[in-house]
Parts: sequence; C-alpha cells; structure tokens
Amino acid sequence: MGLYGEQILPRLTNVACAMKAAEPLRRRVCQGLTGDVVEIGFGSGLNIPFYPAGIARVAAVEPADLGWKLAGKRLSETRVPVQRSGIDGQSLPFPDDSFDAALSTWTLCTIPDVAAALLEVRRVLKPGATLHFVEHGLAPDERVRRWQRRLEPVQKRIFGGCHLTRPVVELLTSAGFTVTELDVFYEDGSPKFIGANSLGIAQSP
Ligand SMILES: C[S@@+](CC[C@H](N)C(=O)[O-])C[C@H]1O[C@@H](n2cnc3c(N)ncnc32)[C@H](O)[C@@H]1O
Repeated sequence: MGLYGEQILPRLTNVACAMKAAEPLRRRVCQGLTGDVVEIGFGSGLNIPFYPAGIARVAAVEPADLGWKLAGKRLSETRVPVQRSGIDGQSLPFPDDSFDAALSTWTLCTIPDVAAALLEVRRVLKPGATLHFVEHGLAPDERVRRWQRRLEPVQKRIFGGCHLTRPVVELLTSAGFTVTELDVFYEDGSPKFIGANSLGIAQSP
C-alpha cells in the first residue's frame, strides 16, 4: 500500500469520517442490528458508540492496520465483543450463513470489486438476514452527477480508490439483495458530489 495508504490515509479517513453530522446517520443505520454482525470496512470503529444492545458480537473486516489501532479507545469502551476477523470484503474468511446481520458505512465506494464483496456479504449472511447500509454514491440529479464524473479521478487518488459515481441500490439488487428500507438524501454540511447518500436495509434471499 505504501506510506500514504498505510500511515496517512487511515488518519485522514478517521478525521473525515468523524464529522458530527454523520453521527445521527450512524445511529440510524445501526438501529435494529442484532446477534452476530459482520462489519465490512470497519475503519477506525466510528460506529462502535452506536452499536445497539441487541448485538452479540461484531466481526470487523478492515484492511488498514492503522484503522484498527485508531479504534483502540472506542474498542476499550464498548461492551460489545469486536474482533478483527478479516482484511478484505471481497473474500470473507467465514463459512456460509454465519451472520444475523451485516453493516457497511461509506465503504462500498472504496472496495475495488464491490460486486464481489456484496456477493460475499450475501454468502455469509443467514437466509433472510439484513445488510444495514449508509453509502455515498451516484447523485439523484444530473447536474450533480456531472460534477461527480469530473471529480472522481481526483477523489480516487486522494481517498484510496473512493468512487463518487457508484449506484448503491443497483449494486445491492444486482447482488441479489432486496432493498426493504431506503432513504436517499444529500448529507447536511457536505458538498453534494460527496454527500449523495443512500441509507437503508437490504435483505438477503
Ligand atoms: C471511507 S472509509 C469508511 C470507514 C468506516 N466504515 C466509517 O464509517 O467510518 C472506507 C473504508 O473501507 C476500507 N476498505 C478499503 N478496501 C476494502 C476492502 N477490500 N475490504 C474491506 N474494507 C475495505 C478502508 O480501509 C476504509 O476503512
């Protein structure tokens, strides 16, 4: 990954993702998670304070060692057992039908083969289990989409391959999920090209 990917990007992500404005979204997306949960793109554990009481344990999947280290204080303050259990959402080291739920927050933008990762999430979820997601992606408005297409090459370089134009719902349905709850909105306090969010729940067959 190199110095930038290993040392700078995880710190940059830790700060960029820790915006106060994101906290109500984290709270909303975590609502209703129960049992054994897999979180892909765990980052620095910014969702930990919002894990609901119904969660039994979390299997964290995160490639950045430094992300995991930056989660240290949050990990020490939660009663939820969290284990770093994998490093790549595209290839999950779990048997089929292992989890009651999955969580992904602003991660589908960055995983190189996002279609493969979603198939993996489906595989490890029990039948009928749900993926809770909040993701930025392709904006609803063409004017914003034009900016997203222009800025995406720069965004990808600075933020470790983060795409601006991924169609979140389309990706989920192509992987076989049924989106059962969905809110599409521009995030307060963010420029529209990066703040076009989809928050919801997708059910595995
Ligand atoms: C924008 S950050 C979001 C972090 C965290 N989910 C949050 O809400 O604060 C994207 C995360 O995806 C992780 N990531 C990148 N490639 C990945 C992969 N192949 N599998 C799993 N996570 C990956 C990055 O290391 C980073 O932590």
